Amino acid sequence: MTTLITGGAGYIGSITTRLIRSTGRAVVVLDTLENGHRTAVGDAPFVQGDVADTELVERICKEHGVDEVVHFAAYKAVGESMENPSKYFQNNVTGSQKLFDALHRAGVERVVFSSTAGVYGTPDTVPVREDAEPRCESVYAETKLMIEKTLSWYSRTTSMRHVCLRYFNAAGASSDATLGEDWRFSQNLIPHVMKAAMGHAPALKVFGNDFPTPDGTGVRDYIHVEDLASAHVAALDHLAGKGASITCNVGTGFGTSVMDIINTTEQVTGQKVPYEIVGRRAGDPAACYADPSLITKTFGWSPTRSLEDIIATAYAWHSTHPAGHDS
Ligand code: WQD
Repeated sequence: MTTLITGGAGYIGSITTRLIRSTGRAVVVLDTLENGHRTAVGDAPFVQGDVADTELVERICKEHGVDEVVHFAAYKAVGESMENPSKYFQNNVTGSQKLFDALHRAGVERVVFSSTAGVYGTPDTVPVREDAEPRCESVYAETKLMIEKTLSWYSRTTSMRHVCLRYFNAAGASSDATLGEDWRFSQNLIPHVMKAAMGHAPALKVFGNDFPTPDGTGVRDYIHVEDLASAHVAALDHLAGKGASITCNVGTGFGTSVMDIINTTEQVTGQKVPYEIVGRRAGDPAACYADPSLITKTFGWSPTRSLEDIIATAYAWHSTHPAGHDS
């Protein structure tokens, strides 16, 4: 079995590629390296290129005997997507549609797609279930929903089948601290907490403590990136076992606040996390965390790593790679 992994040089992609290979599958990684890192791919077969290059994708499928695909490749900066919608619709949506077209022509029928809990926007109720009304509040989230819908139509009109995985907040790094997030550009909480704990940045800005949550700070569902990776393997096994197309949340089912992250970081690392309370960030919901019962019921998958594991692996990665893979 050979798995094509688009965006496999990225944070989640590289960690998932390593796990997929450990199951005995052959892989081939396709990545532009625009945001990914060649070193993160290691000795896996690699092609530098764009998913929109249909001739290249068809050639890779034929040369490598591709049976299944995990599609990570996308731009994912929420703020940038609101400033440059065209870049996001072209790369994420048009690129994905060209990829699916090439896969269909090459006879590849199984696709696991990297989607996002961002499609829920500000949920009316938590925990969030998959049947919650999509309410995209960014171009980024809208592109992911459009790709989900494209896959649904391929599933209804061709023999292609898919699993869309709606990630909650991916965090942490590989247990051996060799793969992780490139933190130079990330606007996410945990990279910012690590930098503050290590004195690489001024005090952490806590975006509001006046939310209707237990301690007033924002609540999210932080899932270890290695648990996220194992959900992709479970999805590939589901499709290889003739499973039907499905869209699933991937989260722990637990809500964790910003202050929980700060306190856990201080306990795990022994470092103080300097912080200051500032105003809310536009568009931030008070709370968003998953109801993961569907993925557990369908795939038998559940997360195994704790919040402490997230913090410990993030700290081990960042303290040895302050500038991501280039350090
Ligand atoms: C988490 C919490 C902030 C930074 C993101 C993006 C997107 C998606 C999921 C892919 C919130 C607070 C943050 C900081 C803070 N990924 N915060 N100070 O916004 O939940 O979702 O991850 O699909 O990348 O939508 O994640 O890490 O930005 O924020 O107080 O410096 O931390 O207000 O409550 P978010 P986040």
